[in-house]
Amino acid sequence: MLELIDVHVTATDEKGTVAVLPGINLTLEDNRIYVMTGPNGGGKTSIAKTMMGIYRPSQGKILLDGTDITAKTITERARLGIGYAFQQPPRFKGIKVKDLLTIAAGYEDKNFQCELLYDVGLCAQDYLEREINSSFSGGELKRIEIASLLARKLKVAVFDEPEAGIDLWSFQKLTETFAGLHEKYNGTLVIISHQERILRLADRVILVSGGRISEITTPEKFLAEMEKIVPDCLCRADCIKGEMANAECDR
Ligand SMILES: Nc1ncnc2c1ncn2[C@@H]1O[C@H](COP(=O)(O)OP(=O)(O)OP(=O)(O)O)[C@@H](O)[C@H]1O
Ligand SMILES: [Mg+2]
Repeated sequence: MLELIDVHVTATDEKGTVAVLPGINLTLEDNRIYVMTGPNGGGKTSIAKTMMGIYRPSQGKILLDGTDITAKTITERARLGIGYAFQQPPRFKGIKVKDLLTIAAGYEDKNFQCELLYDVGLCAQDYLEREINSSFSGGELKRIEIASLLARKLKVAVFDEPEAGIDLWSFQKLTETFAGLHEKYNGTLVIISHQERILRLADRVILVSGGRISEITTPEKFLAEMEKIVPDCLCRADCIKGEMANAECDR
């Protein structure tokens, strides 16, 4: 179980110190799939980075199975079984796909590596011996990073927008893989996503906005509520402000 207790995160940018997460309380149970969703800039990636130790809280506590891990580094948390697949994965230059998967799993097993690549929609024959370099497309890189996280059989695995940049066919395969993971592993799965198909896999949907957890609900309730929301046309709102409510919308 992973718990975030009154976690505050601040960051410094050109405007000075900004509150990125002004107080998060969240409990993630074992053997569950959580899908974190919400508006762009709402704080999803920041919560994931805080779990992983990339962002350090200025206040609050993080507990893994009751043990305080707030002061633990990224490497220490990785050893404890927390993993994070980046929204935009870094390139591990000069290393072969098979070596990355061997390091991630902690042992070399070609059959397992083939299965992992298949799970993310990549053909093992074409990829295992390839060196990861700038010739990889964004989607290929993303899928290899996801495969390397799957290899680790983590306690808490966080996937940040796994669908981003991935074609429809591979997305289908990936959705099946996430659904199947529930049966294969005992860990907690946190998927940050905007996709309905992924949302439907969740035991619980966590809605994040304005740096806060605004709701924790079921996918059915969440999707039913979403249908009721009619997005306000910003263009029209601008027109009303400028007393041009009846003007033709040119967007
Ligand atoms: N290191 C940082 N420095 C300054 N501001 C930051 C930093 N990290 C996050 N923020 C701000 O915190 C807010 C939340 O960002 P975050 O990346 O967590 O959003 P998100 O929910 O993942 O959005 P998206 O759906 O677009 O990926 C944004 O306004 C962002 O600019
Ligand atoms: Mg994000």
